[in-house]
Amino acid sequence: MRPVKSHDVCVVGAGYVGLVTGACLAEIGHRVVCVDSDPRKLKALKAGKVPIHEPGLDEVFRRVVKSGKLAFAGSVVEGLKFKGRRAEVVFIAVGTPPRPDGSADLSAVEAVAETVAKHMAGYTVIVDKSTVPVETGDWVSKTIQRFNKAGRLTTSCRTPSSSARARRSRTS
Ligand SMILES: NC(=O)c1ccc[n+]([C@@H]2O[C@H](COP(=O)([O-])OP(=O)(O)OC[C@H]3O[C@@H](n4cnc5c(N)ncnc54)[C@H](O)[C@@H]3O)[C@@H](O)[C@H]2O)c1
Repeated sequence: MRPVKSHDVCVVGAGYVGLVTGACLAEIGHRVVCVDSDPRKLKALKAGKVPIHEPGLDEVFRRVVKSGKLAFAGSVVEGLKFKGRRAEVVFIAVGTPPRPDGSADLSAVEAVAETVAKHMAGYTVIVDKSTVPVETGDWVSKTIQRFNKAGRLTTSCRTPSSSARARRSRTS
């Protein structure tokens, strides 16, 4: 299967959500770099090891790494311009762990949004896959706008697949 047009994609956070997203996008032909700040995870990925268990992922992972469609980087800045190629689409898939009071810790999402805003070099689509409270999508766009001093054009959006899945599981 081939996409209509292949794009340069940066996925920030190579956990369950980000690594699966990145591998699947690479499988359909996009050039993907997955960024993770965890040095041990990064080392494993670069050594060709899948550090999580997800059915079917190993096979896809091996194929796309071998074909050069999926690569790995340790920083968002590196991921935004990986081997001279500018990321046109950035997925934010970092964790949002619960704080002691039960609210989600959004600091990693905010840090990534700020870095992307400061370092993107042209029109960029920013897709938030991390779970954030209602209306935080706006907050991510506002963070991007606040730090986008160069005035780059951006589009920010969210993928509500978890709510779709929640709806499906409620109706099944
Ligand atoms: N949209 C969806 O369909 C959907 C579905 C399930 C979960 N989620 C959400 O996606 C997010 C990620 O979930 P997960 O299960 O993949 O988490 P995870 O903990 O498995 O992976 C998160 C990864 O992000 C990395 N990370 C953290 N801060 C970083 C930074 N500043 N720069 C680079 N990497 C960083 C961590 O090292 C980790 O590998 C959570 O917010 C989760 O709730 C979304």
